[in-house]
Amino acid sequence: MDLEGKRVLLSGATGGLGRAIAAEMADQGAMLLLSSRKEEELRGLASSLAGGAPRHEVIVSDLAQDGAASELVREAGDVDVLIANAALPGTGRLESFSEQEVVRALRVNLEAPIMMARELVPAFANKGAGHVVLIASLAGKVGSPRSSIYNATKFGLRGFAFALREDLHPYGAGVSIVSPGFVREAGMFHDAKSAAPPGLGTTTPRKVARAVSRAIRRNRLEITVAPRRQRFISEVGYRHPRLASRIQRGGGADRVAEKLAAGQSAKR
Ligand SMILES: NC(=O)c1ccc[n+]([C@@H]2O[C@H](COP(=O)([O-])OP(=O)(O)OC[C@H]3O[C@@H](n4cnc5c(N)ncnc54)[C@H](OP(=O)(O)O)[C@@H]3O)[C@@H](O)[C@H]2O)c1
Repeated sequence: MDLEGKRVLLSGATGGLGRAIAAEMADQGAMLLLSSRKEEELRGLASSLAGGAPRHEVIVSDLAQDGAASELVREAGDVDVLIANAALPGTGRLESFSEQEVVRALRVNLEAPIMMARELVPAFANKGAGHVVLIASLAGKVGSPRSSIYNATKFGLRGFAFALREDLHPYGAGVSIVSPGFVREAGMFHDAKSAAPPGLGTTTPRKVARAVSRAIRRNRLEITVAPRRQRFISEVGYRHPRLASRIQRGGGADRVAEKLAAGQSAKR
């Protein structure tokens, strides 16, 4: 799908990756419906993008609230593309989460994208067009220590995307998964001030944003955005979870994960 003149609903627009995705979409000629919980930041972002405000609109929504995801889509009106990008890091030992924190992470990371897509399907079927992009992660392919909730949501998103893609295909609509590895410069990994495991490298928000654009324009099933070595290791881990577990236990993954979870504990 060509993005020129298309209405793109982007959740998590105020985050590290959201801002880069918004800029890329605006540069491609899209009209954005920018969403998160922070109105002022959203307004600042809208006017900073190519085309400015009021071409780009803002919709404040707390996706952790019951019914908010469907309501957001209804408020957005006519939407050609949904980019479900908002998420919480969901890292730390399972027992360190309160019940409410578990529910919030599951809702924002997994339930909200499902509900937003659900709300859009009838309109996509009517138009015979539309695209859903789900921002997953390499955590949707390989389980890591201190990441049980995050892994659960990202594995879930991938399964949801692959199945939904088959159901939407006859309507002429597409579904893509974009799976970044560790991202430097901005975003939830960068904000945690933690380092990636030695030798794995990092990617950038700009590269993730370009992948989102490519996924929509070429209707790609999944794009993994990470250095070659990280992509290779995650592919091996995906196919051989027992081997991935042995490598992680021998390679000090525990220490890296503990530090990352500590740095992300404020985002629950
Ligand atoms: N950064 C990485 O290294 C990395 C790697 C792999 C995958 N990812 C994925 O990339 C996506 C973007 O992550 P990021 O790094 O940009 O994270 P981020 O900087 O922490 O931004 C998260 C975004 O989600 C929004 N959000 C959080 N809770 C919300 C809620 N209850 N209601 C509505 N919006 C909410 C935040 O908005 P407000 O706080 O303004 O409301 C913010 O815009 C996520 O799906 C993440 O899992 C990131």
